[in-house]
Amino acid sequence: MKIKVMTVFGTRPEGIKMAPIIKVMERVPEIENTICVTAQHREMLDQVLNLFDIDPDYDLNIFKPGQTLTEITMRALEGLEEVIKKVQPDILLVQGDTTTVFSGALAAFYQKVKVGHVEAGLRSGNLYSPYPEEANRMLTGILADFHFAPTQTNKDNLLREGYPEEKIFITGNTVIDALKYAVKDDYEFDLPLLNQIDFKEKKVILLTSHRRENIGKPMENIFSAVRDITLKHENVDVVFPIHLNPRVREIAYRVFEGNNRVHLIEPLDYEPFTNLMARVHLVVTDSGGLQEEAPSLGKPVLVIREETERPEGIEAGTAKLVGTSYDKIYDEMDLLLSNQEEYNKMANAVNPYGDGKASERIVDIILKHGVNRK
Ligand code: UD1
Ligand code: UDP
Repeated sequence: MKIKVMTVFGTRPEGIKMAPIIKVMERVPEIENTICVTAQHREMLDQVLNLFDIDPDYDLNIFKPGQTLTEITMRALEGLEEVIKKVQPDILLVQGDTTTVFSGALAAFYQKVKVGHVEAGLRSGNLYSPYPEEANRMLTGILADFHFAPTQTNKDNLLREGYPEEKIFITGNTVIDALKYAVKDDYEFDLPLLNQIDFKEKKVILLTSHRRENIGKPMENIFSAVRDITLKHENVDVVFPIHLNPRVREIAYRVFEGNNRVHLIEPLDYEPFTNLMARVHLVVTDSGGLQEEAPSLGKPVLVIREETERPEGIEAGTAKLVGTSYDKIYDEMDLLLSNQEEYNKMANAVNPYGDGKASERIVDIILKHGVNRK
């Protein structure tokens, strides 16, 4: 009898990190996988589905502009109950820390379906930063039967919280699996702007920012520091693919108005985005996924947050946690742009997040343990 897996995801990063697992499962005859997207994100998710050629069996299409956390949770829970009842999976897989992840785990629990949590055990130690992701992760952990921890640090976090060791598996992060699929030496961009930038002559900064706790004053500080650094360093250009959140867009358009060296562009599809990251000089971000991708591409990352649940990149020396004050962000960018030695210290390709085989490990574990309904 086949193992019935149901994969649930809803946002861009979940799609990127779940796709390699789906691809491995497609090759395994003992597994029957049903894909259900909540579509908490719409355009940003659809580009991932297209790239990885994933055709969901169920699409809850819950996205609404300006959606609140309560609305996402309610719509996802409601839609998932129906699908889980129909599919009757042996195990439901969720990935990461979004509201779709928590809702997916809770919906499975309500139907007494086992939960596999991919990217388990990340902790910042502050329930409000990242918000609401830290809570989503912890709540999902409570409901999970399989904790797929990317690193030893993540496993240690779970052990400290009292989770039994036999339920925790160190697998690496599937983000590296996806990255290997996407980054190519001879990649050519469709967007003319990106083909026109001379990545060798210019020092290009890749900027992304979307965290809820940064929206408002912190984001104004971040963007102002980036704007002002282009005034000091004439050979610096900035590329900022802006998240579709209108609250982020409003601040970006206002702060960067009239600055023609900061290129505000639409979110890029995953393939051009990662190939852009592979070519830039420096990454400035509050994204979780970028903190994992940049070290493996040897790009220094300034993490514009007060806390991170991804200390591995910092310990490896490729990432630096710089907070959200204007002065600190400006000074840290200035240092890396002015001092080659400091830059070289950080620009080492290290891979604390895995070897690109996390998905195979996760699928092997599912096969080995078999899964029966409770
Ligand atoms: C969500 C996750 C966050 C993750 C991020 C990845 C939650 C609470 N947050 O944050 O953990 O890091 O995704 O990007 O789960 N929008 C669109 N089209 C889209 C996607 C978003 O227009 O395809 C706009 C909408 O106005 C939406 C807003 O962005 O209301 C915010 O989207 P939402 O999913 O609520 O939160 P994110 O900030 O994207
Ligand atoms: N990404 C993308 N296009 C963009 C910006 C990011 O494809 O314009 C990818 C990026 O490579 C990473 C993921 O989206 O894999 C990160 O998503 P995001 O920063 O939105 O969420 P987080 O990782 O912070 O949850």
